[in-house]
Amino acid sequence: MNILLLGSGGREHALAWKLTQSNKCNNLYVAPGNAGTSEIAKNLDISVEDFDAIDKAITDLSIDMLIVGPEAPLVLGVRDFLEPKYPNLAIVGPDKNGAQLEGSKDFTKQFLVRHNIPTAKSQTFTAENFNEGLAYLKGHPLPVVLKADGLAAGKGVIIAETQEQATEEFTKMIKENKFGEASSKVVIEQFLTGIELSAFILCDGKGYVTLPEAKDYKRIGEGDTGLNTGGMGAISPVPFAKTGFMEAVEEKVIKPTVEGLKKDGMNYKGFLFIGLMNMNGEPYVIEFNVRMGDPETEAVMTRIEDDLVDVFEKMHRQELEDVTLSISDEYATTVMLVSEGYPGSYEKGRTITNIESYENVEVFHAGTKKSGDEILTNGGRVIAVTGKGSTMEEALESANKAAEGISWEGKNYRRDIGFDLR
Ligand code: AMP
Ligand code: GLY
Repeated sequence: MNILLLGSGGREHALAWKLTQSNKCNNLYVAPGNAGTSEIAKNLDISVEDFDAIDKAITDLSIDMLIVGPEAPLVLGVRDFLEPKYPNLAIVGPDKNGAQLEGSKDFTKQFLVRHNIPTAKSQTFTAENFNEGLAYLKGHPLPVVLKADGLAAGKGVIIAETQEQATEEFTKMIKENKFGEASSKVVIEQFLTGIELSAFILCDGKGYVTLPEAKDYKRIGEGDTGLNTGGMGAISPVPFAKTGFMEAVEEKVIKPTVEGLKKDGMNYKGFLFIGLMNMNGEPYVIEFNVRMGDPETEAVMTRIEDDLVDVFEKMHRQELEDVTLSISDEYATTVMLVSEGYPGSYEKGRTITNIESYENVEVFHAGTKKSGDEILTNGGRVIAVTGKGSTMEEALESANKAAEGISWEGKNYRRDIGFDLR
């Protein structure tokens, strides 16, 4: 089978690593990929949003399976563009309609409410009912959450601590296009207190399989302080999820979600990432993403024992109803190594050394590129190291050793991943 994977992050290197372990994988291409994927697959110099170039590659390389890593091509309708032309191509990722579950917060809220799935109370406002929005905010308990409806590069959520801040931000979002078109609609939402968890399913339009859950560490600073990032580390399994929480997630969130997708006629084929808040043992949906998480994938993929190509083929044939994944009991802990300055501005092109093999560790590249024999930094998040072990502590020790060993000028990482789960 010839496989094309779209994306260039740590998530894609981890997916590529898993795909190449399958006997069914003859040729793997990654577009555009990174230095890590170039070592195990062939990188194609194609942007994930260049549908014509992707189309040409599918024909030229006789691609049988297309896996879409990031959300942007899905929201832009890559499935809708390719499916009519290649009915036999197994595409992992929903169509444009399904991708609204990530592309529009308001669409997601309506979906959750319509299908009785627990979520924070909310109301949506635009320029037309701006004054009603102001009035709604006045009576709202604090803190209050303001969400730009559309994609805003992970920055569109504001947690306002005071009435003044809430009013000011709401005004900026709607009246001054703070997040461009994405904030022409704003969801005002109740603040949920608890601990977050990422759940993942793969859907085929009829059935689904549940992947291992993970906990992501979003803030740049130790002790969960400072600015939000794409994710600085991940832990899987999540110890608190073992005590009945995942059963509650399955019954109260996953099953009604999959039923909802069917009732709404979405024919959803691809990953669904369910961002959850655990509030006193009860799950609430904070968000959906229509892709896998990064860096959660770098932890989760190392725990799946099944042949991933086989699972994707079953997804394409709508046979997931009969599948249960085999999951390793081991812990996987991911530590993300980032560039100095990230998530603000940072320099690229620094030489990385000591990317060798570390015991009980998988090294996944994110923002890296090759230059001759050298590997250079090429992004904010640069390398994800995943440690494995029979306990979380053991896994973390391995990951932290590799995080310390790999080096470049200005490397930064959190030494406290998992601190709240010990
Ligand atoms: P989102 O883009 O919806 O995932 O929001 C980004 C982050 O904001 C989430 O991962 C949470 O940490 C936080 N967040 C979003 N919605 C809420 C909420 N209703 N209550 C508390 N925190 C939230
Ligand atoms: N780690 C969170 C995300 O991928 O959105």
